[in-house]
Amino acid sequence: MPDGSVPRTQGRFITLEGGEGSGKSTLAKQLGARIAATGLEVVLTREPGGSPGAEMVRHVLLSGAAEPLGPFAETLLFAAARSDHLETKIRPALARGAIVICDRFADSTRAYQGALGGVEPGLVSKIERVVVDHTIPDLTFVLDVPVSIARQRLMRRSEGPDRFEREAPDFHEKLRVAYLEMAERAPGRFVVIDATLPPDAVLSKALEAISSRLGLTVT
Ligand code: TYD
Repeated sequence: MPDGSVPRTQGRFITLEGGEGSGKSTLAKQLGARIAATGLEVVLTREPGGSPGAEMVRHVLLSGAAEPLGPFAETLLFAAARSDHLETKIRPALARGAIVICDRFADSTRAYQGALGGVEPGLVSKIERVVVDHTIPDLTFVLDVPVSIARQRLMRRSEGPDRFEREAPDFHEKLRVAYLEMAERAPGRFVVIDATLPPDAVLSKALEAISSRLGLTVT
């Protein structure tokens, strides 16, 4: 996905990225509530999933059922889910002028299947170009948290680990590096936030970036 999307006259597309236990879902909800309070339409969504078709694929991926097929096939499944999500939910929302906030998007495929799964980055980019096309996020937050802290947070969650949460600690450190490198390469789209800060401070930093980068003032 090239940096610096073509400005759209309608809607804004914000994505949240980071490792597990980085607080993305909490931030997504808080941002959604604050932006909606200004009277703008907010569509809060997530990947994999976000649309009925994509939710079916989510189940296949996160249960581990697709794991024997290997990382390339998983990449295609994430792409298939994303294509449906874009077509049925994200693009129509942006066309209406909504602010779309998506918990994970194509950068997750770059990080998990590309940098970590060993799928060749050029191939990941090609698939991304076909699926994402012009619907490139306007702003992407990377919630950055040291692995030891993320792990403590995850252990407090009651539900069991999913297919991706069962990976070794080394996996999570590499994931963190992969995100930081992506952000460094495309500073026009990414904003890295220190997710060890209290949730209110993380929220203020995100709101500041939304104001300075997207021109949306949310008080
Ligand atoms: P989820 O339960 O939604 O948790 P979280 O976003 O809080 O980590 O898990 C989604 C998992 O799917 C997560 O481990 C990352 C992985 N994933 C990929 O490997 N590739 C992708 O393209 C996407 C969107 C997610």
